[in-house]
Amino acid sequence: MAKHTIVALPGDGIGVVVLNEAVRVLNAAGFDADYVYGDIGWEFWCSEGNPLPQRTLDLIAKHRIALFGAITSKPNDEAKAELDPALQGKGFSYSSPIVGLRQHFNLDICVRPCKSYKGNPLNFIRRGRGNTIDEPLIDAVIFRQNTECLYSGVEWTNPPANVYNALMSHPKFAGNFGSVPVEELSVSTRIFTRKATTRILMAAFEFASKFGYKSVTVCEKPNVIRETSGLMWKLAKEIQKNSFPGIKLNNTNIDAQMMWLTKNPEDYGVIVAGNMFGDIASDAFAGLIGGLGFACSAQFSEDGIAVFEPTHGSAPKYADYEVSIVNPIAMIESACMMLDYIGEKPIAANIRKAIADIIKEGKVRTYDMMKMQGRPEAIQNGAASTTMMTDAIIARLTK
Ligand code: NAI
Ligand code: MG
Repeated sequence: MAKHTIVALPGDGIGVVVLNEAVRVLNAAGFDADYVYGDIGWEFWCSEGNPLPQRTLDLIAKHRIALFGAITSKPNDEAKAELDPALQGKGFSYSSPIVGLRQHFNLDICVRPCKSYKGNPLNFIRRGRGNTIDEPLIDAVIFRQNTECLYSGVEWTNPPANVYNALMSHPKFAGNFGSVPVEELSVSTRIFTRKATTRILMAAFEFASKFGYKSVTVCEKPNVIRETSGLMWKLAKEIQKNSFPGIKLNNTNIDAQMMWLTKNPEDYGVIVAGNMFGDIASDAFAGLIGGLGFACSAQFSEDGIAVFEPTHGSAPKYADYEVSIVNPIAMIESACMMLDYIGEKPIAANIRKAIADIIKEGKVRTYDMMKMQGRPEAIQNGAASTTMMTDAIIARLTK
């Protein structure tokens, strides 16, 4: 029996492609694991009316660690139309299985490292003094609260009377929206709890402390969103004072942070935010290190379930290419985060070194790294296919 059992969740589109590539690299690097494959995604919505079947949840509950590719989500009307005719009109309604997975297992801590590789032609550059060009190396790690905030799904259009009445009890609502007809109101709630906010902050501080980052930056908007962002900022100050006095605590507003992004991105280490602003900040930082082909992530629950996935989606337009052109690095990096988590750090380090060497050398580059349009001709024009990139990484592993 292998040392580890990993639940592999390919999902849809390029999720299937890149997950397969990550498993190839893991095998080549000597990772001793059995993979049990779980059903998730569009196919299972269409055939069963559930994109996240109970048997998949049971597999994850049993084995605790999952590697996930990506899924396809579509709007409600398309979801209904594509559902097996035998299931239509039976009350099935589509919701995103990855959001469902996060909520089911309470995967409340999301970690998204954004670290530039030397030699990546997609690295952010900026004009320095005297028209010099700087290429600051970025090493930011975004801690995103993954289950609450505006993504909790607590929302209404034309809210029911009890909700409307509760809103009307707030003087600002009554004053500014009291005359709006209720059927013209849409309300999405931004919910933060003390427990989940404390957990994401503690995770950020512990990470900073363990890996020698000098600061933790809370990226919210407490001067305007006083209750929820305010809670995070208040708790951050307490945690820093009581438990991490050696780590500097910074406060940036999400809007200003986006503006500063291209000014001094190398000055940020660990960044922590709620779900919405964490999503924005992590995509923004990912853009500076090469975009979706390089953006990896990990998600953890309090009771030890962990799911590792690239930030990108299923990229349906590339899904059916005979020779896949997408960049497998985000998925392979996500697998490295898994290796770190389960105590296989030397294997992760070997893989990361191989990726770094290939990027630095610059001979094997996928279409995104060549700044080409994502078309099948990219290969004829010199871009590496997904498989060629993976093969190059495998060939570089230290045996
Ligand atoms: P996407 O991330 O799938 O693709 C956006 C674009 O990014 C692609 O067209 C491609 O140009 C580029 N890209 C993505 N991954 C790449 C890679 N590995 N290498 C090179 N280029 C890459 O996002 P999009 O198009 O908005 O959504 C497509 C589907 O994916 C939708 O159904 C959406 O709901 C779903 N989605 C799923 C996610 C998940 O499973 N966690 C996350 C984001 C979107
Ligand atoms: Mg996003």
